[in-house]
Amino acid sequence: MKGSPFDLDQPLAYQRWRDAKRASHPAQARDLVVNVADPRALSEAEAQALLQRCATANMAIYRSAVQDEDKDIPLQMARQLGLRRLDGNWLADEDGISQIEVAKMASPGAERGAYIPYTDRAIKWHTDGYYHPQSRHIRAMVLHCVRSAAAGGENALMDHEMAYIALREANPDWVRALMAPDAMTIPQRLDDDGVARAEQSGPVFSVDRHDGALHMRYTARTRSVLWKDDAPTRAAAAFLQRLLDSAGPHVLRLRLEPGMGLVCNNVLHDRAGFVNDAGHARLLYRARYLDRIRLPGSAASVAPAAARSEQ
Ligand SMILES: [Fe+2]
Repeated sequence: MKGSPFDLDQPLAYQRWRDAKRASHPAQARDLVVNVADPRALSEAEAQALLQRCATANMAIYRSAVQDEDKDIPLQMARQLGLRRLDGNWLADEDGISQIEVAKMASPGAERGAYIPYTDRAIKWHTDGYYHPQSRHIRAMVLHCVRSAAAGGENALMDHEMAYIALREANPDWVRALMAPDAMTIPQRLDDDGVARAEQSGPVFSVDRHDGALHMRYTARTRSVLWKDDAPTRAAAAFLQRLLDSAGPHVLRLRLEPGMGLVCNNVLHDRAGFVNDAGHARLLYRARYLDRIRLPGSAASVAPAAARSEQ
């Protein structure tokens, strides 16, 4: 893409973008927070405040007093941000929303308990859907908190564009290595019926050919991930791991409380382990989308249609 900041042969375009990005990036998690009266029906000012934060940091947090157990909350929130194409995974409910909670092992949803999101354990740094093919890149998501745990469950967040900048500043060859189509491979997953998910190879960083946006596919897991076995890829993966574990200035931390939610262009995130008790059983709704959050300044009813006609 001509003039793309993500083109290694365009150092000036990169430097301009980098400097603007660094100057506008929020310094702390509370800078991401927007108070909203009802996430299902944002005022124009509330919507623009969320969109503005997503435009500069790829993420925003809304905070409301709405404590309803209502899956319409993430769906309506997403719709108002221009997100239309919902990606339902095989553990999501029929409406495409995943209920992230500790699975009860003897219940009909017991198979979920085999997966870390449905336990009370910590989840390492990742972007969502890193095991998906390019045709199903998760570009955005909404994570809405219905109930928080008695203790723990905080999230760390990092704008993946800031991770890209850190890597490129350290060594542009590492960026090149992580843009290779075979940089990171997720092995196939087997279940009782055979192959439940095919092996998935792909780059860590890729640039969307429609809108020029940077996408990141990443997991800090060491099991069930195969990094390309060459020196630059190994060095780049080790650098990312150190960066994310460093608690540096661009790692933002917060705990979602009831009525709050994260909206983001699938930024890097992790989750701390947590403890439930009888009155505090953590429940989050998650909706994942194939679209990116729309840019500020455009009306909700116009932007998605315009974006779609270009595809
Ligand atoms: Fe996630």
